[in-house]
Amino acid sequence: MDSFEKNILITGGAGFIGSHLVRHFVRKYPSYRIINLDALTYAGNLSNLRDIEECPNYVFVKGDICDGELVSGLFRTYRIDAVIHLAAESHVDRSVLDPFTFARTNVMGTLNLLHCARTCWGSLKEGFDGKLFYHISTDEVYGDLPITRDTAPYGESFFTEETAYRPHSPYSASKASSDHFVRAFHDTYGMPVTITNCSNNYGPFQHPEKLIPLFINNIVNRRPLPVYGRGENVRDWLYVEDHVRAIDLIFHARRSGATFNIGGFNERRNIDVIRTLISTVDRILGRAEGEDECLVTFVGDRPGHDLRYAIDSSLLTGELGWKCQVSFEQGIEKTVRWYLGHTRWLEEVTSGEYMKYYDTMYSGRK
Ligand code: NAD
Ligand code: DAU
Repeated sequence: MDSFEKNILITGGAGFIGSHLVRHFVRKYPSYRIINLDALTYAGNLSNLRDIEECPNYVFVKGDICDGELVSGLFRTYRIDAVIHLAAESHVDRSVLDPFTFARTNVMGTLNLLHCARTCWGSLKEGFDGKLFYHISTDEVYGDLPITRDTAPYGESFFTEETAYRPHSPYSASKASSDHFVRAFHDTYGMPVTITNCSNNYGPFQHPEKLIPLFINNIVNRRPLPVYGRGENVRDWLYVEDHVRAIDLIFHARRSGATFNIGGFNERRNIDVIRTLISTVDRILGRAEGEDECLVTFVGDRPGHDLRYAIDSSLLTGELGWKCQVSFEQGIEKTVRWYLGHTRWLEEVTSGEYMKYYDTMYSGRK
C-alpha cells in the first residue's frame, strides 16, 4: 500500500526551474512522493539536485516525455495523482536553428503526457477526481508589446490572461500549441488542468545559454557580451524562487480550467540588465568601476526578436495573494554570487556541446 499522501510527476525536473521546483516540493512536502522524469538533454543536469537525491520521497527517472510506454508505466507504477509539466526545449535561439526538435518535445511530448494521463486516470474508479495536470508555460505565447515610454513600465499595455495568442518564434509557437492541447483536454475530456504563463526567470542553475548567466560568465572571463540589436528589448524579470512559490500556491489552489499569468512587474531593457551585471560582477571581484563596459558588443539581431514582454499578474496577486519576494537588485546580487561560487558547475556545463552551439550562433551574428 502506498504510504504517500500524493504522487506527483514533475517533468523536466533536472533543468533550471524544474530543479528548484523539485527541491522545494521534496523538502516542503515530505508526505508527497516526487517522481522527476527528465531525458537529461544538454539542458538537464543531475548535479542541480545532488542535495536531495537521497531523500526518501524523491525518485528520478531518466526518460523521454514522448515515450508512451514509459510514461504510462510511470502512471501505473506510482499511481500518479498530479503532473507538473516543465520538460521542454526552452531556448529561443535554438528553436530558430532547429524548430523540429521543439515541435517534437514541446507539442508531441505534451500531447503524449496528456494522452497517458487521460488513459490512466480514465481507467480508475474515481476517474479525474482529485487529479490535476498543471502545465508550465510562457508569456512568449502572447507575442510582444510596443514600447511607448522611455522609463519602466515601458508601455501602457500588459499581457493579461485574456490576451490573444500571437507567438513569433518556433519556441513560442510550440509552447502556444502545447497550451492549446492542454485546454482541449479540459474542454473535450473534462481533464482538470491549470496553465500558467510566466515571464523571464533568472537565478542559480540556469544554463549559460540564457542572457543573465551567459553574460555573468563572459564578464568574469572578459569575453565579449553579444547584445542583440541595440539592447533595447524589454523583458519582465522574475527570480526563480518567486516563480516556484507561485507554482506551489497555484498547484494547491486547484482551479481546474484556470490560467494565471506570473510576472514580477519588473521590466528592464536588456542593456540596463547588462550594465547592472557588469557593475555587480566588477564590484564583487574588486575591479575598477565600469572597467568591463568595453566588453559590450552589439551584434546582429535575433530573427523575429520580440520587443517587449510585460505581464499583468494581478489575477494571481488578487485571487491567491501571491507577491514577489525578491527584488531585482537582491536577485541579481544572489545570482552573481552563486555563479562566482560555482565555477566548476559552469565549467562542466560550458565545456561540452554547449560551446559548439554557442560558436555557431555567435559566429553567424557578427
Ligand atoms: P530548461 O531548458 O532549463 O530545462 C528543461 C528540462 O527539460 C531539462 O532538464 C531537459 O533535460 C528536460 N527535457 C527536454 N526535453 C525532454 C524530453 N523530451 N523528455 C523529458 N525531459 C526533457 O528549461 P527551464 O528554463 O527550466 O524551463 C522549464 C519550463 O518552464 C519550460 O516548459 C519553459 O517553457 C517554461 N518557462 C521557462 C521560463 C524561463 O524564463 N526559463 C519562463 C516561463 C516558462
Ligand atoms: O519570457 C519567458 C521566456 O524567457 C521563456 O519562455 C524562455 O524559455 C526563456 O529562454 C526566456 O526567453 P528569452 O528569449 O527572453 O531569454 P534569453 O535569455 O534568451 O534572452 C533575453 C533577452 O536577451 C532577449 O531579448 C534576447 C537578448 N539576448 C540574449 C542572449 C542569449 C542578447 O541580447 N544576447 C544574448 O546572447
